[in-house]
Amino acid sequence: MRLLVTGGAGFIGSNFILYWLKNHPEDEIVNFDKLTYAGNLENLKSIEGTPNYKFVKGDIANADDVAAVILGIDIVVHFAAESHVDRSIHDSAPFIMTNVAGTQILLDAALKNNVKRFHHVSTDEVFGSLELNDPNKFNERTNYNPRSPYSASKAGSDHLVSAYYYTYNLPITITNCSNNFGPYQFPEKIIPLAITNLLEGKKVPIYGDGLYVRDWLYVEDHVKAIEAVLDKGKIGETYLIGGMTEDIPNIEVAKKIVRILGKSEGDIEFVKDRPGHDRRYAIDWSKIKNELGWKPLHDFDTWLKKTVEWYKENEDWWREVKSGEYQKYYEKQYNNK
Ligand code: NAD
Ligand code: DAU
Repeated sequence: MRLLVTGGAGFIGSNFILYWLKNHPEDEIVNFDKLTYAGNLENLKSIEGTPNYKFVKGDIANADDVAAVILGIDIVVHFAAESHVDRSIHDSAPFIMTNVAGTQILLDAALKNNVKRFHHVSTDEVFGSLELNDPNKFNERTNYNPRSPYSASKAGSDHLVSAYYYTYNLPITITNCSNNFGPYQFPEKIIPLAITNLLEGKKVPIYGDGLYVRDWLYVEDHVKAIEAVLDKGKIGETYLIGGMTEDIPNIEVAKKIVRILGKSEGDIEFVKDRPGHDRRYAIDWSKIKNELGWKPLHDFDTWLKKTVEWYKENEDWWREVKSGEYQKYYEKQYNNK
């Protein structure tokens, strides 16, 4: 099989490519990525020069780039996106261009080239926010209710993917996943931000009251869920993917990281809240478990420790990432606490 992986130089895309080539050495992968601030070919250094792996620099929102790269492709695995909520609050335009228009251009190209599968990687944020005491979790029947420009753009992309199935019979699948953590995550996201700030002797900024809850999933579990959907998923279907943790408020996540690194709770500071901040996400992943046999295998505490170790051992990687453009973003986001 020839796979086109969009956004393969980002956090989850690069973990997917490394896993896939190890476990499916008979397949070929073309990694198509614009290399925005979040794309980093260092993540894929270990497979550079592998005969069944190729990198092509390009933009999913550019029809010519896409037309050239999609020739001969069997399966599209679509990760490419602008992915950070806070950046979407500063400027939503790139989110609409990449996440909505880019997905539409990719869908047209997939249709024209008769791809066997178009798998769209999406987020639980499209469902909006749960109350802290709500016994219900998000499931495949939950109504869409996006509340940030990022989640609205991902919701738009999900609807387009679904529409291409109903209107043109494009063989699609969609997954909506909760918050990932693990190696190669860009340090604008809370877990790598907390780890690397503490390693640099800086404080961990916690928004608002710190009692916001995310459903944490180790990135390899996400990759394996996508593998299960590509292997056994039913065309036209959506599957929700989530972690094995009970609710852990952000402040507790920060305290766990502080403890792992032997720092003090005084290294955590409360800062101005995110506008429209979703209170809680929680996923009911029984459909993918019952129908495809997937469940999360990595518990939060063990894999948080391993993730902290990874950042300690890969200081060159994150120091490089945190220089340059990142500094300007950090100032804009956090300077008036
Ligand atoms: P990321 O920001 O780390 O990586 C995104 C990648 O897409 C980068 O390599 C970037 O260069 C590339 N890209 C951006 N715009 C592009 C364009 N126009 N053309 C081609 N490439 C482009 O993101 P991530 O955290 O790895 O997320 C990957 C996907 O998974 C996204 O679609 C995101 O919405 C979804 N998702 C993420 C999470 C999470 O917790 N990180 C959870 C659920 C779903
Ligand atoms: O739920 C899946 C989503 O998870 C993905 O679709 C997104 O691409 C990904 O970025 C992530 O979104 P979040 O907004 O939940 O992740 P983030 O790491 O930005 O924030 C996690 C929580 O931590 C959230 O409640 C906001 C809070 N936070 C975040 C930052 C960056 C802080 O308290 N302080 C911070 O500095």
